[in-house]
Amino acid sequence: MVALVTGATSGLGKSLCQLLASKNIPLIITGRNEEELTNLKQTLPVHVVSCKADLSKSEDRKRLIALIHEYTPDLVVNNAGFGLYGDALSHTTEEQMDILRVDGNAVLEITLEAARSLKMAGKPGTILNISSAAAFFVFPKFSVYSAVKGFVKQVSIALDEEMKPLGIRVLTACPGQIKTAFRIHASKGVYHKPSRYAMCLKSASEHLWHQIQTGKQVYIFDARYRVMILMSRLLPRSLVQKFLGNFVKESNDG
Ligand SMILES: NC(=O)c1ccc[n+]([C@@H]2O[C@H](COP(=O)([O-])OP(=O)(O)OC[C@H]3O[C@@H](n4cnc5c(N)ncnc54)[C@H](OP(=O)(O)O)[C@@H]3O)[C@@H](O)[C@H]2O)c1
Repeated sequence: MVALVTGATSGLGKSLCQLLASKNIPLIITGRNEEELTNLKQTLPVHVVSCKADLSKSEDRKRLIALIHEYTPDLVVNNAGFGLYGDALSHTTEEQMDILRVDGNAVLEITLEAARSLKMAGKPGTILNISSAAAFFVFPKFSVYSAVKGFVKQVSIALDEEMKPLGIRVLTACPGQIKTAFRIHASKGVYHKPSRYAMCLKSASEHLWHQIQTGKQVYIFDARYRVMILMSRLLPRSLVQKFLGNFVKESNDG
């Protein structure tokens, strides 16, 4: 077995790489941070191939896709991603387009090419796409991120149904907040620490492993978010959107 993890240099991706390595699974790791890629390669107790790639750039995605066709990984985790808090117009258009490129274009391109490679090799495999609990909402002040994560969830479910007969699964993970640098990046450094309500990294990566093993198509792995999503379906849409607009700020003050 070989696993590819994008966004391996930090947070959830790094923690998942450590978990996979503890199970003796050789890895292909990617990210932009070359120092962290080298550090991981030296410390993980398995064979590691690293590929420095900025997934917002199509030429970098092409290099990664060449590696996918070379190794045909049995497990691909599309984990790299970022979001931006605040009004859409408070960020440049280019920054918003980068969310689409990294969290959307790259996920779709890698999913399709990884599946094509498995199909050509006649191998079963799993592609795990990291979406978010935000994918279930129309989310003011987190608009582009939540919409792209919604796209990832929706397309992954459809691809999973199409590819199941080939033995290829396309699973969607929908975490709530996790203790990573995500919100520090999303707030451009305004928030210095992860939220105290967030899930610890060890639990989050164990939930991902559980999903890979059980093949659950969509997995919201925090009971609080499962309740929130259910409740939102019972309440008027305008009320939910007002609440969500304030949620980014309030949960980050927590
Ligand atoms: N933390 C949360 O609360 C939370 C909740 C729900 C979903 N998620 C999702 O979980 C995934 C992992 O995020 P995290 O929480 O672990 O955040 P993180 O610690 O900020 O890690 C993000 C990872 O994505 C990579 N990345 C970002 N932009 C990239 C680019 N242009 N090209 C290539 N790689 C890029 C980063 O690598 P480099 O910096 O080396 O490029 C890093 O390894 C994301 O998809 C995120 O949307 C997180």
